[in-house]
Amino acid sequence: MGDIFVIMDKLLIKGGNRLEGEIYASGAKNSALPILAASLLADSPLKVGNLPHLNDVTTMIELLGSMGLDITLSDTGEVEVDASTINNLNARYELVKTMRASILVLGPLLSKFSKAIVALPGGCAIGSRPVNLHVDAMRSMGAEIVLEEGYIKASSEGRLKGAKIVFDPVSVTATENVMMAAVLADGVTTIENAAREPEVVDLANCLRKMGAIISGEGTDIISIEGVKSLSGCEFSVMPDRVEVATYLTAVAMTGGKVKIKSSDARSFSSVIDKLEKTGAVFLTGEDWVSIEMNQDRPLSVSLTTGPYPSFPTDMQAQFVALNSIANGNATVTETIFENRFMHVQEIARMGGQISLKGNTAFIEGADFLVGAPVMATDLRASASLVLAGLVASGETTIDRIYHIDRGYERIEEKLKLLGADIERIS
Ligand code: UD1
Repeated sequence: MGDIFVIMDKLLIKGGNRLEGEIYASGAKNSALPILAASLLADSPLKVGNLPHLNDVTTMIELLGSMGLDITLSDTGEVEVDASTINNLNARYELVKTMRASILVLGPLLSKFSKAIVALPGGCAIGSRPVNLHVDAMRSMGAEIVLEEGYIKASSEGRLKGAKIVFDPVSVTATENVMMAAVLADGVTTIENAAREPEVVDLANCLRKMGAIISGEGTDIISIEGVKSLSGCEFSVMPDRVEVATYLTAVAMTGGKVKIKSSDARSFSSVIDKLEKTGAVFLTGEDWVSIEMNQDRPLSVSLTTGPYPSFPTDMQAQFVALNSIANGNATVTETIFENRFMHVQEIARMGGQISLKGNTAFIEGADFLVGAPVMATDLRASASLVLAGLVASGETTIDRIYHIDRGYERIEEKLKLLGADIERIS
């Protein structure tokens, strides 16, 4: 067999342009993934709208397809998923290894079919990211689970049983998995120390539309009363708050004036609060947000990540980039994931002055960054390199951008619309 050459796309950015104009937010990846998994619970098709065109979403659709679900894509970007054609309950390693969120099929499979075989997600670039909370919660609800040959093999005698689940630490996808396990369980499930993320609320809204009985979503105690069956419905996923916050952070770095339509500023107020401290000025409406930045450089701003409503870990890397060209010094502390600082070395290659001690980055704002070839290492780290490239002098090429394509829909097209000099090359 001959050698196989894989040509990987890169982004080429010539920095220095101010960003001006209007773009639309895409649908939220982290809401789309659990909602697609929820299709497994319904007796009739679930139609999901506002899905972003992202590799992770494609992977989830492929995963459902590999179990025999009937999937129809409409011209308008909606996906209709019919779980009545399911013919196997196995989430294979080849798909799970590319996306940890595949674990989200565990709860629905167990709840609806009393059986699930889900590959254990492999190690991840941003820390060990275990799945013990998911497994323990399913056991508390009566599932028998063995971890064997790299798989979670789970089954239950009849329906799962409602239970009291207390999470420590707070976990977004474990909260979602338990919600989906509980909607068809026997009795009432309460989740304490539940994740309060807006995507958890979006999932609850979808499940409720399918006939589930849920209360307390958006607080740290969620209560679910199991029902006998659920039906499909039409549901449109919420706007992607991390995508929007990333573009707003870009504008705080480059200067300019940008409006983002179809976005909900209430879902990322902790980020707006920090961007205001850098000197940016915001206006918000029911479904839009605009930013104006007139300073040459942002003021530095320190932060610590935490579960919602605290500052999101998914915006940490972008703020390391911002602080690296800010006026002043800042600290950025990561409390959610170990080892989520791979962008630091790459930004340092562009002139960023950052030192790491434990889970804190100490950043001395530099007067300018200089373009360089850099490597994307994970989704949000890649976004931070794009932002750094937008303000750096000269050319930045970012390699391995398949990471960006997991979470940002048409990033170069959206930035081009705002006046950035950015191109996808191979
Ligand atoms: C979700 C998001 C991800 C975001 C993260 C934190 C999706 C698809 N992904 O990931 O973008 O960065 O929330 O906001 O929604 N943990 C355990 N045991 C477990 C599960 C988690 O110890 O079984 C720990 C993790 O290592 C981490 C913390 O809990 O330290 C929070 O992680 P978690 O909220 O579960 O992240 P995800 O749901 O995987």
